[in-house]
This record gives sequence, structure tokens and C-alpha cells, in this order.
Amino acid sequence: MKKTFPKIFYNPVSIAGGMLAIISFGLILFLMVLELLATEPKPYMGIIAFVILPVFLIIGLIIFFYGAIRERKKIIKGEEVENKLPIIDFNDPIQRRTTITFFTIGILLLLFSAFGSYKAYEYTDSDQFCGELCHSVMHPEYTAYQVSPHSRVGCVKCHIGPGADWFVRSKLSGAYQVYATIFNKYPKPIPTPIENLRPAQETCEQCHWPKHFFSEKQVVNDYYESDEKNTRWNLYLLMKIGGGNEEAGPTSGIHWHMNIKNTIYYYALDRERQIIPLIEVERMDGSKTTYKSLDIKYSEADLKNAIKRRMDCIDCHNRPTHIYHPPAKAVNHYIALGWISRDLPYIKSIAVQALEQNYSTTEQALTGIKSFVEDFYSVNYPDLYKERQSEIQKAISEIQKIYKRNYFPEMQVSWKNHLDNIGHMYYLGCFRCHDGKHVNSEGKVLTKDCNTCHTILSQSFENEPVRLSLNGLNYIHPVDIGDDWQEINCSECHGKGKDNTENKTSLLKTR
Ligand code: HEC
Ligand code: HEC
Ligand code: HEC
Ligand code: HEC
Ligand code: HEC
Ligand code: HEC
Repeated sequence: MKKTFPKIFYNPVSIAGGMLAIISFGLILFLMVLELLATEPKPYMGIIAFVILPVFLIIGLIIFFYGAIRERKKIIKGEEVENKLPIIDFNDPIQRRTTITFFTIGILLLLFSAFGSYKAYEYTDSDQFCGELCHSVMHPEYTAYQVSPHSRVGCVKCHIGPGADWFVRSKLSGAYQVYATIFNKYPKPIPTPIENLRPAQETCEQCHWPKHFFSEKQVVNDYYESDEKNTRWNLYLLMKIGGGNEEAGPTSGIHWHMNIKNTIYYYALDRERQIIPLIEVERMDGSKTTYKSLDIKYSEADLKNAIKRRMDCIDCHNRPTHIYHPPAKAVNHYIALGWISRDLPYIKSIAVQALEQNYSTTEQALTGIKSFVEDFYSVNYPDLYKERQSEIQKAISEIQKIYKRNYFPEMQVSWKNHLDNIGHMYYLGCFRCHDGKHVNSEGKVLTKDCNTCHTILSQSFENEPVRLSLNGLNYIHPVDIGDDWQEINCSECHGKGKDNTENKTSLLKTR
């Protein structure tokens, strides 16, 4: 028999190794072809094609050469090695059956491993893979995502969109992420803003395009004060979300920033893009202007080192789906829904305080919340505590739900370290620029006027006459803090900076 390779390779061990290597290589090729044909990129598929399968390929090759070396040693020693491979005689029915069975099983195995790697390949693209496989790492993002407006939009739609360049980059960082997860090398919390997010034009704007914004949107909020009666008040805001489309009339409104014909560049001195000393604007009529902050001290060198960014969707909508609510907001919402009983004295304030204690694990938080609320009522309202156990227990379980949904101590994630740039109450948000202190050379100020971005249609306190106006009301701050709410940024008092609960309780006065 004529042999293409040196005879040392013709031994069962080398053949088994060779088969393993060939099959792995075939599967890698198969996955690469699938990837070329795919309409959408599959970032984590690289892990199978370029990490897992090559391991088998290499093991196969090692076995292959090991068999050969062993064979060579035997030849040197003079052992008989000729005709070690079985000779199959198809005339012998037993041998014939065995061979046919062997090949059928072999082919089936091949088909199955192709199918299996295809399935694995599909799986890496799924939201379960992103959200569940890296369970502890992505747990906060996945939990928030599931109850957000984008819960039906796949992770990859925002995080990895179409396009070869991004594909390669995200695949590399995808493989790195898997390494980081396995060896527990990931940062806690995962830092934001994330640098290699795809540009908004290629993600958000595939589904929501700027020209679409031309109407207004009503936002209704219910609030409960921190007094014994949990006094209720509410606010109707008409958000002026227009501005994206000239053809639809006036181009004023919040999405004016996003009209493609306007360009806004800003400079940020910090990584989180909160301290903005300078803004350059080119309007659609071609006029240019620069706004400078009178408040923020900076030098030319600071500007050189600053982050310069063209404003896009993410500069306001940085939490479109991973939303971690501040405690007061979540508790107001649960009381408004009736899930936490409003009839429990001070429940608003107690719930917020229970959520904001320092806990190091979720387990500890859940028991901590329970004892915090029980202690308060058993000490201050012993009769009520006995009579209304079920109401109190229901409140406790709802507060625990708020906790599980918005706080992730294991990953150090909560509203405190994941700021939301929409609005201005808990974070600087719009007031990064619209703080009334950014001025251009003509003396125009980026206004903080309360009816610029939203019209305050109505604001009513319980047991007081309803206040209503289509032109916008003057805002009344729920507790009397003088003119402070006009002069100081809301987030100074409402944000994470200060110890919220204590400071505010000492400030509480009646209106
Ligand atoms: C609607 C678009 C969208 C979808 C869908 C989406 N994300 Fe995000 N994600 C974002 C944006 C925007 C950010 C914040 C970017 C920034 O601040 O720079 C982000 C941030 C993150 C971060 C960084 C930590 C943080 O909270 O800021 C992780 C991790 C993450 N996403 C994972 C996921 C996972 C897992 C899924 C699917 C279960 C998912 N994302 C689905 C838009 C999305
Ligand atoms: C694959 C399509 C898709 C992509 C990509 C997408 N969205 Fe959405 N988005 C939707 C859909 C669908 C809704 C409507 C959900 C609803 O009405 O409940 C929505 C709703 C919203 C809302 C309204 C939320 C609310 O409270 O009603 C905002 C704001 C938003 N998206 C911003 C963004 C931003 C910012 C991005 C980019 C990071 C983005 N979207 C990417 C499909 C998408
Ligand atoms: C990076 C700085 C920056 C941030 C952050 C910012 N804006 Fe603006 N905004 C501007 C600039 C610059 C203008 C245009 C001023 C001009 O025309 O000279 C503007 C104009 C506006 C206008 C008036 C548009 C018109 O002409 O009718 C509205 C409304 C507005 N912004 C709302 C918001 C809201 C709401 C937020 C927060 C979600 C926000 N802005 C965040 C820089 C910013
Ligand atoms: C200057 C800040 C700012 C920028 C930039 C911005 N938005 Fe918005 N957007 C807002 C605000 C504020 C709202 C109203 C928020 C609310 O519902 O309370 C809003 C509302 C929306 C809504 C909900 C509209 C509805 O009818 O309910 C969508 C969708 C949206 N934005 C998408 C986008 C997309 C896509 C981009 C990028 C092209 C973008 N936004 C850029 C501030 C901004
Ligand atoms: C630059 C635009 C802008 C200006 C100026 C502005 N607001 Fe707002 N305001 C917003 C946006 C955006 C939201 C967020 C709506 C949301 O969360 O859906 C908001 C929300 C609010 C809320 C509800 C907060 C919450 O989460 O419960 C109150 C109250 C409010 N504004 C009061 C004021 C007052 C008072 C002023 C004047 C000092 C003012 N706003 C000026 C853009 C603005
Ligand atoms: C000097 C500190 C301070 C400033 C500045 C301030 N607030 Fe407040 N605010 C308070 C206190 C204290 C309360 C009562 C908190 C409580 O009930 O526990 C409060 C309550 C509120 C509430 C009700 C909150 C809830 O959960 O029920 C809203 C809404 C509010 N403020 C809006 C604003 C807005 C909008 C601004 C900026 C324009 C602002 N505040 C600026 C101190 C401040």
C-alpha cells in the first residue's frame, strides 16, 4: 500500500487525534461561514469559534503527534509495527455490519456536533446569554432591563449593532469579558459611561429617528410628603419633546438638540461628563455661538485634557433601559398604586429610610428592612402594630421588592452610582448646561426657567384648591425652603451627595 505520510502516523492514537483536529477545524470553518452569512453580528460566537474549538483542535494535534512519537520509538526499538491498522474484509458479514454501524454513528456524531455548535452559536446571541450566563455581573442590568420600555429589544440591538468594524471590536471585548467573569476580574460596579458603546445614530436612531419628534407628552407624578398623614400632592407636566423636524412646524423643544442640522459639542472635565464648562453650538441657520460657564473654574490646559463630545441621544437618555430608581420616587409610585398602604403613619418616610440604610448583601437588606419597619411601628404605634399586622407585612414585602429591583449591593449598583441625565431632580441632568450660569458672548443665558422644557399644567395639594393653567404655573416647592429651589440645583438636596433622609427631616417645615 502506498502511503502519503511517513508510516509513523499510521497508528490508532494518531488517527484518533487527527480526526479530532479535523472535526474541530471543520466546525470552526462552518461557524465562520455562518458568521459571514449572518445578517446580524454575533459577538460572543467568537468564544466558541476562536476559544473553545481551537482548544479541541490543539488537543487533537497533540494526540496526533504523541501517537507518532510513540510509534517512532517503537520502530527504533525494532518492534514490529507494520500493518497495525485493521484490514477490513467486507465479505465477512460481522465485519461489514460493524463497519457500517461505525460509519453511521460517526456521520451522525459529526452532524450533531455541527448542529450543537450552531445552537451554541445562536445561544450566544440571546438575551439569556447576556443576562443570565454572566449572572452575578449582569444581574443589575438584566433585572432593570426586564421591567423597562425596552424589555423586548435584544441586548445586542443596543450594545452591538450591524457593521464590521464594531463587530471585530465587540468580539474582542466579548472574549475579554468572558475571561474577566471566569476569573472574577471585573470592576464593581461596571463603570459608566461605557466607552465602546455604538454611536446612537446606529442603534437608537434605527428605531426612533429624530424627525419623528414633534408633539408634546404629558407626565403625571404623584407625591407623598414625609409627614404622619403622608399628605398627597400631584403635578402635571407637559413635556415639550418636539424639535426634531422643520417640516412639522416650529423647531423648538427638547429634541431641538437632536435636529441633525444643529450640532452641539461640549467639553466635560470629568469621566462621567457632569462638569461642563464650555459648549459650542452651530445652529441650522449657520450661526455659531459658544456658551461658557461662569461657575466652573477651568484653565486652557483643562480644556485640552477634557472630553469633547458631539451631543447625541445617550447624553440625555443614558438610562433608557437599565433604570435604577431613587427611593423616594419608587416609594411614591408604590403608594400611588396602592401596593403600600397610605394609611400607615409616616410610611413614606420610613420606607425611604429603610431602603437607604447601609447593607452589604441583598439577604441582609431584606431582613434589615423588615426589622426597621417593625421596630418603628412596635415602638411608636404599639396598638396599630398589633391590629394591622397584615397591612404592615404587605408594606414590608413591597419595600423589599423595591430593594431587589433597584439595589444590588453585591455589584455595588444603585441609583447613587448610576446617574440618569433625563430631568434634573436627583442628578444634574439638564442642569449640567441649563443651570442659568452658562452664558454666550451676546449675554444669552441657557435658561433654567421652569416653563421652558415643560409646562407646569397643574399642581395640587390634598385639601387645597386645584391649581391649573394652560400657560404654565409658578412652581410651589412642597416644603418651605425659601428661594433655595430657584438658586441651588435641585440635586444638591435631592441627590446622593448629602445624607438625604436626615438633612431633609431637619428641613421639614409646613408650607
Ligand atoms: C435600549 C438600548 C439598550 C438595551 C436593549 C440594553 N442596553 Fe445595556 N446599556 C444601554 C445604555 C445606553 C447604557 C449606558 C451607556 C452609558 O452610560 O454610556 C447601557 C449600559 C449597560 C451596562 C454597563 C453598566 C450600566 O448599567 O451602565 C451593561 C453591563 C449593560 N448595559 C448590559 C446590558 C444587557 C445584559 C442587556 C440585555 C439584557 C442590555 N444591556 C440591553 C442601552 C441598552
Ligand atoms: C430595536 C428597536 C429599538 C432600539 C434600538 C431602541 N429603542 Fe427605544 N423604544 C423601542 C420601542 C419599541 C419602544 C416603545 C416601548 C413602549 O411603548 O412601551 C421604545 C421606547 C423608548 C423610549 C420611551 C420610554 C418610555 O418611558 O415610554 C425612549 C426614551 C427610548 N425608547 C429611547 C431609546 C434610546 C435612547 C435608544 C438607544 C440607546 C433606544 N431607545 C433604542 C425600540 C427601540
Ligand atoms: C451639553 C449641554 C446641554 C445639555 C446637557 C442640555 N442642553 Fe438643552 N440646550 C443646550 C444648548 C446649547 C441649547 C441652544 C441654545 C441656543 O440656541 O443658543 C439648548 C436649548 C434647549 C432648548 C430650547 C430649544 C429651542 O430653541 O427651542 C430646550 C427646550 C432644551 N435645551 C431642553 C433641554 C433638556 C430637557 C435637557 C435635559 C434632558 C437639556 N436641554 C440638556 C445645551 C444643553
Ligand atoms: C437634550 C436631551 C435629549 C436628547 C439629546 C434626546 N432626548 Fe429624547 N427625550 C428627552 C426628554 C427630556 C424626553 C421626555 C422624557 C419623559 O418622558 O419624561 C424625551 C423623550 C424621548 C422619547 C419618548 C417620546 C414619547 O413620545 O414618549 C423617545 C423615544 C426619545 N426621547 C428618543 C430619543 C432619541 C432616539 C434621541 C437621539 C436621536 C433623543 N431622544 C435625544 C431628552 C432628550
Ligand atoms: C432644561 C429643561 C428643564 C428646565 C429648565 C426645568 N425642567 Fe423640570 N424637568 C425637566 C425634565 C426633562 C424632567 C424629567 C421628566 C421625567 O422624569 O420624565 C423634569 C422634571 C421635573 C419635575 C419632576 C421631578 C420628579 O422626578 O419627580 C419637577 C418637580 C420639575 N421638573 C420642576 C422644575 C422646576 C421647578 C423648574 C424651574 C426651576 C424646572 N423643572 C426647570 C426639564 C426641565
Ligand atoms: C435646599 C434643599 C432643596 C432644594 C434646593 C430643592 N429641594 Fe425639593 N425638597 C427638599 C426637601 C427637604 C423636601 C421634603 C423631602 C421629604 O418629604 O422627605 C423636598 C421635596 C421635594 C419633592 C417631593 C419629593 C417626594 O419624594 O415626595 C419634590 C418633587 C421636590 N422637592 C422638587 C424639587 C425641585 C424640582 C427642585 C429644584 C428646582 C428642588 N426640589 C430643590 C429640599 C430641597
